[in-house]
Amino acid sequence: MRIVTSVRGMQRLARRWRRGGPRVALVPTMGYLHAGHLSLVKLARRKAGRNGRVVVSIYVNPAQFGPGEDFARYPRDLARDKKHCRAAGVDVLFVPPDREMYPDSQNEAFSTFVVEHRLSRGLEGASRPAHFKGVTTVVAKLFNIILPDLAVFGAKDFQQAAVIQQMVRDLNIPVKITVAPIVREADGLALSSRNAYLSPAERRQAVVLRQAIQLAQKKVAASRRFLPASRLRGELIRFIQRQPAARVDYVEFFDPKNLEPVRQVARGVQMALAVFLGKTRLIDNARL
Ligand code: PAJ
Repeated sequence: MRIVTSVRGMQRLARRWRRGGPRVALVPTMGYLHAGHLSLVKLARRKAGRNGRVVVSIYVNPAQFGPGEDFARYPRDLARDKKHCRAAGVDVLFVPPDREMYPDSQNEAFSTFVVEHRLSRGLEGASRPAHFKGVTTVVAKLFNIILPDLAVFGAKDFQQAAVIQQMVRDLNIPVKITVAPIVREADGLALSSRNAYLSPAERRQAVVLRQAIQLAQKKVAASRRFLPASRLRGELIRFIQRQPAARVDYVEFFDPKNLEPVRQVARGVQMALAVFLGKTRLIDNARL
């Protein structure tokens, strides 16, 4: 496995691959890798094919964190991430330092952003205003640096995957986007680098996100026709807040294609929620 830290070095390698013809698959991450990330790597390996190349990028992107969010304390462990990537058959680990991604010398301050204006408005975008602007910008940069044929994202971040697909369509970026299913702990908690923040008591209560989804699925399955979204939301918020450490940020029901909120919930509607456990903000989602 090769480790590349400079944008120029990565671009040189990418252009060489382009000429030689191996399929290149990219898995963008912010590191502190877990089995959810590694499932994306496995899928990328399969999609790239026998002669393909798999690139994992690790970059904790400051542009997608708001003021007061957890950028400074986001968990990092490059030594462990390297081991995981080597074992997973990754060909190149791209780990750029900040000065490579956002040069900030007085005269050349970074000033160009990629902004998606429709799908990124609600849900995470409503709670974290500049978040998706940071995500689309860094992913567009990674695509230009690595020139992948395909890139794999997780359904854990459902809205992020939708926004990236929209960006690729709108800007005619020749990268095929694949979305991989959510990987969960045995008790149903979706794997996340941020789970490392949870105290033992918060960790026990964190399963409530998954339980709220299952409760909604049960209610939808049992109802003959439509359930008013406002009533179901109220029931789920009460259910979640029975956990003393839990505070709901949002519970939303929406059309999985255009992310527009629905007033009536029925089978096929997408549900997403964000819940604070103490200071840690967790998200989850599922099709109902
Ligand atoms: P990060 O949170 O590290 O996640 C990297 C990728 O792993 C994302 O596509 C995410 O959806 C996926 N992922 C995380 N947990 C998962 C799980 N439990 N099951 C399946 N997939 C999972 O998302 C980001 O980083 C950043 O926003 C990034 C796209 C790298 C841009 O900076």
